[in-house]
Amino acid sequence: MKTEILSASAPGCGEKASAIIKAGGLVAIPTETVYGLGANGLDPEAVAQIFAVKGRPQDNPLILHVSCVEELEQLCHDIPESAYRLAEAFWPGPLTMVLSAKDCIPKRTTAGLSTVAVRCPDSEITREIIRLSGVPIAAPSANISGKPSTTTAQHVYHDHAGKIPLIVDGGACRVGVESTIVDLTETPPRLLRPGGVTPEQLEALLGALTVDKAVTASVDKDAVVKAPGMKYRHYAPQCQVLIVSGSAQKAARWIRANMRDGDRILCFEEELPLYEGCDALSYGKEAEVETLSAGLFAALRVLDDPNVKTVYARCPEGGGVAYAVQNRLKKAAAFQVIDAEVLA
Ligand code: TXA
Ligand code: MG
Repeated sequence: MKTEILSASAPGCGEKASAIIKAGGLVAIPTETVYGLGANGLDPEAVAQIFAVKGRPQDNPLILHVSCVEELEQLCHDIPESAYRLAEAFWPGPLTMVLSAKDCIPKRTTAGLSTVAVRCPDSEITREIIRLSGVPIAAPSANISGKPSTTTAQHVYHDHAGKIPLIVDGGACRVGVESTIVDLTETPPRLLRPGGVTPEQLEALLGALTVDKAVTASVDKDAVVKAPGMKYRHYAPQCQVLIVSGSAQKAARWIRANMRDGDRILCFEEELPLYEGCDALSYGKEAEVETLSAGLFAALRVLDDPNVKTVYARCPEGGGVAYAVQNRLKKAAAFQVIDAEVLA
């Protein structure tokens, strides 16, 4: 199969993409978070193709993408008032809500759960494709399962050339990490995955918020967890990743003393001068955390090279969007953190 990359602004792009979705095929779609691998979320056969192409475990449910909040009622029942408040504040945008699923949603989409994850992405073309398709689009991140997510059309092409007919190119993703997931079927609501909508923003609207343990610690692969996707080693290049915390100077001293041939450094742009001659890769500015979230997966993809043995990574501190960057990097590192303040 030939894989076409079509610009989101090309005439007829929405019609072409939605024709494929309506016929049960797959289309890679841009969103503000990461690219998704989309199919008709109400068609079990179409959804099965997503799992096959991605190599995704069957027990990992998909997010349904809607074009507006009104579409929620066709998919979910017992929608709490808080869902509407969150949608009003953050949709379209990087927030996914877990709600009670109606029977029209195939078990393949929800991986047999009684709940469904729904979000309205902040991409004009993708919302147009959903509208024209007339169905919610099920879309996981478009990476091959277990690999870093895709934040450009070229990343998607790299992973799926020859396997899908169309990639809609909406440029580089603005947020760069996957959406925040909040489970509203529990009281208080539970944060299952941090993202561009921050825990602070959610708390301000919801009052209390429980943070799921899978957000902050590694989870055994056989464990029963709320968001099944959180238990897989994720977002990771094939090598070992180690986070080195502490001041810029102490971390650089420790890394330079310990790195071996075939190791790489992933750091903040401000720290590059500390790693002269080490071929360090920067993923954004520490002082502008949005550049870190936007650049993280592209950098992890560069480091996803069989010749790289260990990546020493610098991770931003604090809450807000930094919390989501920490979560992805710590998952890539299997939560291994070395404190250079103690060791250097
Ligand atoms: O930003 C995003 O959310 C991107 C773009 C394409 O929208 N999508 C994405 O999908 O990240 P994926 O499949 O890579 O991650 C979905 C996560 C998984 O961890 C999955 O287990 C969880 O959502 N999930 C889906 N349905 C769920 C449910 N009913 N209950 C709990 N977790 C659920
Ligand atoms: Mg994913």
